[in-house]
Amino acid sequence: MNVLLLGSGGREHALARSFSLSPRLDKLFLAPGNAGSHSLGESLDCPPTDFEGLAQVVEQKKIDFICVGPEQPLVSGVYDFFDKRNVPVFGPSQAAAQLEGSKGFAKAFMSRRNIPTASYMEVTADNLEEGMRHLEHTKGPYVLKADGLAAGKGVLILDDLDEAKTCLRKMIVEQQFGQSSARVVIEEFLTGIEFSVFVLTDGKDYKILPTAKDYKRVGEGDTGLNTGGMGAVSPPPFVSKEIMVQVERSVIQPTINGLHKEGLVYHGVLYIGVILSEAGDVHVIEYNCRFGDPETQVVLPRITSDVLEACWSAATGNLKNYHLAIDTQCASTVVIASKGYPKAYAKGLPLTLPPLSNDAFIYHAGTKRDGDALVTNGGRVVSVTALGDDLKASLTRAKEVAGQVQFDGAFYRADIGYEFN
Ligand code: AMP
Ligand code: GLY
Repeated sequence: MNVLLLGSGGREHALARSFSLSPRLDKLFLAPGNAGSHSLGESLDCPPTDFEGLAQVVEQKKIDFICVGPEQPLVSGVYDFFDKRNVPVFGPSQAAAQLEGSKGFAKAFMSRRNIPTASYMEVTADNLEEGMRHLEHTKGPYVLKADGLAAGKGVLILDDLDEAKTCLRKMIVEQQFGQSSARVVIEEFLTGIEFSVFVLTDGKDYKILPTAKDYKRVGEGDTGLNTGGMGAVSPPPFVSKEIMVQVERSVIQPTINGLHKEGLVYHGVLYIGVILSEAGDVHVIEYNCRFGDPETQVVLPRITSDVLEACWSAATGNLKNYHLAIDTQCASTVVIASKGYPKAYAKGLPLTLPPLSNDAFIYHAGTKRDGDALVTNGGRVVSVTALGDDLKASLTRAKEVAGQVQFDGAFYRADIGYEFN
């Protein structure tokens, strides 16, 4: 089949690589892809949110299947647009994508379906004073979340009550995150260790993919600003079989059943951010309606069955007949970022990569070709994934190769997976 993959990050390079291993693939197209995915498929100069442009691509290139990497096209309704044109899409409908696109929608859904999550209150300009009183009667830290998509920046965690009140007002009245923060969710603060669960679903059946843990802070020892993710490991060793039984029973099953019962069409991957408390119980921190980045770079290399077949089966309602096979090996990925990230950073810096090896993959994220030269084109530039018999072996190899990636101002966290070393 001819496949169109939307997106341009490390996640999409990892998807492209896994798809390229499938005997079902005829030709792969990426809109727009990056310098790494270039060797696996044809890059098209079309943004993933330009649906009319994508429709022309679908016709011209005889596309049989669209796989969506990032959240924005899903939240904007790419599934519905192509469903009307009878093109199978891997991803949820616009209504179901609100699980990521609106924190308030996700919290109300969890509350209706009895899914464990932090208690919350929704605040808009209409009940701002009530929101202020709610903060006064809560003990900190205070968690404020912009309702809409905010490129990972819409969550504030504050220790001080006055600061929390000022921020709440800023978010709603001054629209600090634009329309996204016209509505804010105030949440109870939860403590524990976080991990990411990925569930493929065709709306009826589901398959649980390997779990992962990502490292969101820019600095070693989990310090500094939040980023999209500086590295990931799979599987996180603390996620036991018993914990996954609990996650499946109290979160996955009621979520999939709830989507089905409420007519929320979902043919894709659901990414559930879970927090495990010291007492051993699990709560949902967030839902995302797509694969994680950089978690995909450790999840997909551990899947030994056909990943394209898996996504196609989810998109076309046939997941029941798909046999998922997972490698017992562990995977780690280390992101090499550009000086300044997650704030401002330079682009167009010449980039040198180590030679290809059998035991480490280099996934491009922010890269492009400038004539014959390979240059940086983003804050997260590449990520290096290695497999190993245990996490320590995979981490050692990933870091070794990460140290050989060269461009001006390159940096990476040398402590990814530090708890498990
Ligand atoms: P979110 O975008 O909802 O995943 O939030 C971003 C990050 O903020 C999460 O990965 C957590 O580390 C943290 N966070 C979010 N909600 C809470 C909460 N209720 N309690 C504690 N930490 C949270
Ligand atoms: N790594 C976090 C995310 O993809 O949202």
